[in-house]
Amino acid sequence: MNEYIIRGGRPLVGEVTISGAKNAALGILAASIMSDESVIVENLPDVSDIRVLTQAIREIGARVDQIDQHTVKINGSTITDYYVDNEYIRKIRASYYILGALLGKNGYVEVALPGGCNIGSRPIDQHIKGFEALGAKVDIHNGMIAVQADELVGNHIYFDVTSVGATINIMLAATLAKGQTIMENVAKEPHVVDVANFLNSMGANIKGAGTDVIRIMGVEKLHGTEYSIIPDMIEAGTYMVAAAATQGDVLIKNVIPKHLEAITAKLVEIGCHIEEFGDAVRVIAKKRLSHTHVKTLPYPGFPTDMQPQISTLLMFSEGTSVVTESIFENRFIFTDELAKMGAQVKVEGNSAIIVGVPRDRVTGAKMSAPDLRAGAALVVAGLVADGVTIVNQIGYIERGYEDFDIKMRSLGADIEKIDEKDEKAITRFKQQVV
Ligand code: UD1
Repeated sequence: MNEYIIRGGRPLVGEVTISGAKNAALGILAASIMSDESVIVENLPDVSDIRVLTQAIREIGARVDQIDQHTVKINGSTITDYYVDNEYIRKIRASYYILGALLGKNGYVEVALPGGCNIGSRPIDQHIKGFEALGAKVDIHNGMIAVQADELVGNHIYFDVTSVGATINIMLAATLAKGQTIMENVAKEPHVVDVANFLNSMGANIKGAGTDVIRIMGVEKLHGTEYSIIPDMIEAGTYMVAAAATQGDVLIKNVIPKHLEAITAKLVEIGCHIEEFGDAVRVIAKKRLSHTHVKTLPYPGFPTDMQPQISTLLMFSEGTSVVTESIFENRFIFTDELAKMGAQVKVEGNSAIIVGVPRDRVTGAKMSAPDLRAGAALVVAGLVADGVTIVNQIGYIERGYEDFDIKMRSLGADIEKIDEKDEKAITRFKQQVV
């Protein structure tokens, strides 16, 4: 197993280019097998969650040609198997998009129940409610979820909670259902809009993505397309926070600044200087930042996937901050790791009370990434802290960040990926003269 070893204290300076949005890419990959014609998907992030879903699609018979590191050509006409299970697919959340995609196309599919990061209970009742509303029967047995419908028929669906996954999944199925589907109280995240745009480019008829109501007129089949995925707002936000935390100056390229508004607003509020360009943002932090209150909310609110990173930034800021997590109940586990560095964080219910500590009083520590975004946050903490930090379990981080250590190094970070058993490499790193 690999781990990151980091020597903190260097400001991040320079330019970094953001990859395609993982959460959009997962929906789009699943949607691509709904057509029997070839689909070319560009700007795919090269991260492990994407490789797992791509492999699952291959295993059921779809043809997947890797054109280059970020481009695939997919043809779903050769799918023969409607049973999707392997050791890896059980670990990712988005495996359930294959349900929506193949229910619409084939009328039957069975997929291993979704895994994903350990950040809360993560029920799928809204997915089931949506499939059933379209006329499908849902059966859960032996760790598998099977959906079947002789005919999928459009319906009016009101979601009880705003769910990214359920919105995308039901949108996939309803695209090939008979008649009109109206989905209310849907998620408005940019990745939901991107999946809708992708489906429309294949001939779907989806209107309203990005608002509270999506209207879909079912079509008989989808044709091929060529499509480029939007940039990843969470990867971009992570570099914004890392620039701010290290008191650096970073130009973050290939972003859609509008998607970053909630993050930008908070960083400005605590004292960062941010410049927005057409497809880039520059984050400059010249002094110790200030405290604030943050509450995670569905888009356009502050994203839950940025909560660990902003909490980490606030741990070094002046004054007392309160961060409230309203999406996932288990998302403050990483604060136990930060405590090893000297962070002063107290979790009460779904809020964390963070008393800022000056960076010279925060020391490097050995920590474990508990999940994807918290893992990235621990790396940010290591970049700021005094001395050497080791972050293990980095497989979580690699699920969603392409070349995390390489991109950080290009900004001047002192970070290396090493084999955790390679004691010599660790000693060598620790002895290097800075
Ligand atoms: C997606 C993202 C994840 C992000 C999350 C919220 C992917 C692969 N993952 O996860 O990175 O943190 O959106 O922005 O895109 N819920 C229910 N019943 C359901 C479904 C969800 O009660 O059937 C609840 C969840 O417990 C949670 C809330 O709804 O409290 C939002 O979850 P949801 O938007 O579905 O998250 P995911 O799609 O799993």
